[in-house]
Amino acid sequence: MKQPHRTALCVLSLATVLPLAQAGAEPAPVTITVTKDAKAISPDLFGIFFEDLNWAADGGLYAELVRNGSFEFSPEDAKGWNPMTGWQLVERDGGNGSVLIQSDAPLNPNNPNYVVLGLQKNIGAAGICNSGYDGISVQAGEQYNFSVFARQLAGPGGSLEIQLETTNGILLAKASISAPDSAWRKYSAVLEPTNTVANAQLVVLTTGEGRVALDMISLFPENTFHHRPNGLRADLAQTIADLHPRFMRFPGGCLVHGDGLDNIYQWKNTIGPVETRKGQRNIWHYHQSVGLGYYEFFQFCEDIGAKPLPVVAAGVCCQNSGESVTKVWEQGQRGLALSDMPAYIQNVLDLIEWANGPTNSTWGAKRAAAGHPASFHLEYLGIGNEDKQTEVFRERFKMIYDAVKAKHPEITVIGTVGPRPNDDDYHQGWKFANELRVPMVDEHYYEKPEWFLENLNRYDSYDRTKSKVYVGEYASRGNSWFNALSEAAYMTALERNGDVVHMASYAPLLCKMGHFNWRPDLIYFDNTRVVPSVNYYVQQLFGCNAGETFFAPAMDPVATNVAVSCVEDSASGDLILKLVNVASNAVPAHLVIANGMNVKPDATRTVLTGNPQAEDTFRNPDAVLPKRESMAVANTFDCNLPACSFTLIRMKSK
Ligand code: AHR
Repeated sequence: MKQPHRTALCVLSLATVLPLAQAGAEPAPVTITVTKDAKAISPDLFGIFFEDLNWAADGGLYAELVRNGSFEFSPEDAKGWNPMTGWQLVERDGGNGSVLIQSDAPLNPNNPNYVVLGLQKNIGAAGICNSGYDGISVQAGEQYNFSVFARQLAGPGGSLEIQLETTNGILLAKASISAPDSAWRKYSAVLEPTNTVANAQLVVLTTGEGRVALDMISLFPENTFHHRPNGLRADLAQTIADLHPRFMRFPGGCLVHGDGLDNIYQWKNTIGPVETRKGQRNIWHYHQSVGLGYYEFFQFCEDIGAKPLPVVAAGVCCQNSGESVTKVWEQGQRGLALSDMPAYIQNVLDLIEWANGPTNSTWGAKRAAAGHPASFHLEYLGIGNEDKQTEVFRERFKMIYDAVKAKHPEITVIGTVGPRPNDDDYHQGWKFANELRVPMVDEHYYEKPEWFLENLNRYDSYDRTKSKVYVGEYASRGNSWFNALSEAAYMTALERNGDVVHMASYAPLLCKMGHFNWRPDLIYFDNTRVVPSVNYYVQQLFGCNAGETFFAPAMDPVATNVAVSCVEDSASGDLILKLVNVASNAVPAHLVIANGMNVKPDATRTVLTGNPQAEDTFRNPDAVLPKRESMAVANTFDCNLPACSFTLIRMKSK
């Protein structure tokens, strides 16, 4: 097998990384020559992977502010939870109230529970209070759209009074809704808080004697990302958009194949009016409302210019099933009954039709009815996630794969090769993918930074005639600068191998502080703050500075502590050099652009540096913010690479 661009390979190892330079020792200058040796690389190399874990969706990216507005939480989601979790009865002005959960004659069978609020006499008011996900954060002057489905069950009833309050009961905003009808109907109101409060609560009161049924209680900021209804939290979505991801994998990893067969993610349960969707137990031990469903995922992809990459289960559940907090589920990987596979496969084919089909097709019409007549241009489809390579898996994967290939040869299917970089599942998975000629496989690895530095050559020897690689999940197990630096070095190797590595996404993407299921993560947040990790800035620099042609850089002498890549962005014609110095001494570099391009004098240089010994930098992101400056360059120029730094130089040639 040809070893491409041998001269560019940097064999970094921890032994050469961490020791400080000898006192007084003058580091040798290194000449880095960008040669004419060019190759096309993937235009979709760097993207993102979204999974609803760490409260990434409900209470996170999904802008809904009411927690358990559908009264569907249950002990199956988490120990001690029930349909009233998140809600409290409140009685005001001498009112004598009651609450009860009922499920007869529901708003929708997919969403069976609703609350019945009672007020005994025409005295005062009774209601329910919701404090959202760690409080409801509201801003003065902004508008918040309240809605509820209501039905008067008994008594004359009275108006519904909707109030935003502080936890001390100070009124921030209020609205009144006329007494509900006796049939389910949606009621809406707009609330405009007088003050900015991080942990407000929403109170819904009934003022007339009788019993009123309430369901799907919702409070949404008017200001969602791109002003989409049922949309996404603007600041968090913008932080993701700022990564300039070329694709987004969703709705998750383990969440997709699920904790038991009944927990496999079913995309059809996540589309249509929110009140008709079917929420479910989240494998990460909470509840997923699926308010952020497939329509919203695809819409978000379009809004941020990322290609959608949905993943469906391969007809098997997670091999770790049965380890949830409740531990009531059957253990281990199991496959859908073969008699259920045709219907399951049809669901997968319907997904492709829903995303791309014409508006006169059954599923294309549903997409159009939801507000998107144009195709979503689905190109990629993942089948399976880290599945144990068993006969049960293989049989079902092949059935789905064959059906998709036969009906939709235009779709690039991505298979799976287990959860680790080099174990039995990995080898079995690759063997199977080669047998079936699966176009791409999804590799995952969460390893130490040292592993990343020691494996910069991983893909140099991959067979270019076989499946392409999607590194669907990777992270170096930490948010220190050393972690981020090792990932930066690794990403230069991904660019160098961008002819076989087609896509890569760091994982996990989001984490709400205080609700960790998995660490490290790329972006941390709470209700008012978004705190990107230092790893985020590395991802962002690669995302914003991608190219489709790789020019091989040669190094003389080979600096074992420096990783380098060079790409050309065809849209701008810019040449982009990425230089990662993992040594604890600066390295003087002499750069020679010898690929035939005539470099213009004005370039920009962005440098990320940090203390590699510092533990977590995510709490103090200002310490590692990228420093961007203009720089004079020519076809040869000098550049000092600071100790433990990532330097990016963007040069114009047009
Ligand atoms: O990214 C977190 C989890 O890691 C994913 O759900 C799973 O695919 C992997 O094991």
